[in-house]
Amino acid sequence: MNQDDLKKQAAEAALDYVESGVIGVGTGSTVNHFIDALASVKHRIEGAVSSSEVSSERLKRHGIQVFDLNAVGELALYVDGADESNGQLELIKGGGGALTREKIVAAASRTFVCIADESKLVEVLGGFPLPVEVIPMARSYVARELVQLGGTPVWREGFVTDNGNLILDVQNLEITDPKGLEQRINTIAGVVTVGIFAWRPADVLILGSAQGPRTIKP
Ligand code: A5P
Repeated sequence: MNQDDLKKQAAEAALDYVESGVIGVGTGSTVNHFIDALASVKHRIEGAVSSSEVSSERLKRHGIQVFDLNAVGELALYVDGADESNGQLELIKGGGGALTREKIVAAASRTFVCIADESKLVEVLGGFPLPVEVIPMARSYVARELVQLGGTPVWREGFVTDNGNLILDVQNLEITDPKGLEQRINTIAGVVTVGIFAWRPADVLILGSAQGPRTIKP
C-alpha cells in the first residue's frame, strides 16, 4: 500500500465518528479522502464548518452544506490531518497553510479526530518544518526572533494564506516542550498562529497502516 492508500484508509475509518449535526472538517490530502467518503453518509449530517476555502469548495461539490463557524454552536466533531503527531497526540500542522482556521475549528470542537498515515507518528516533534503564520509586515522581525529560539525560518515564497498572511517554515527545531514552545512563539508580535497543537491536541489519532487502521488515544 502506498502513502495515499494509507491516508484513504485512515480517512474512511473516521466515518465511524460521524453522527449528526454540523461537523468540522480540516484541510489536506488526507482530509480530501475524508470529504469524498463523507459524501456517502451526508444524509446523517446537517453540514460542515471548514478550515479552508479549498475544503469548502470540495464539500460543496459533494452537495454538503458549508456553515460559517459563527452561525453554529460548539461542534461535536472535528476531523483533520497532521504533519506530525507525538504519542500525546500533540501535533504539527500547517503544511497546507491552513493552520489558523484549523486551530480555531479544533478549539471550537468537543472531539478532534486526527487522520494520517503511520509515517506521521514521531517520538519528538520538529522533523517536519514548523509552519508559523505571520502578518506580512512582521515577516523579517518574526524570522529574527525564531532564529533566537534556535530555528531556521524559511519564507514560503509565493504563498498567501486564506487570511491574507504569510508562512515561515521553521527548520531544525527539536520540540521537546510543545506546550512551552507553542506559548513562546505565540507571544512574538506579528505571529498570527504557530502550527504546534499542544494546548488543544487531538483526542483520537487514526493511523493508516499495512495492517489496517490503528487508533491511538493519549
Ligand atoms: C493543512 O494546513 C495541514 O495542517 C494538514 O492537516 C497537514 O498538512 C496534513 O496534510 P496531508 O493530509 O496532506 O498530509
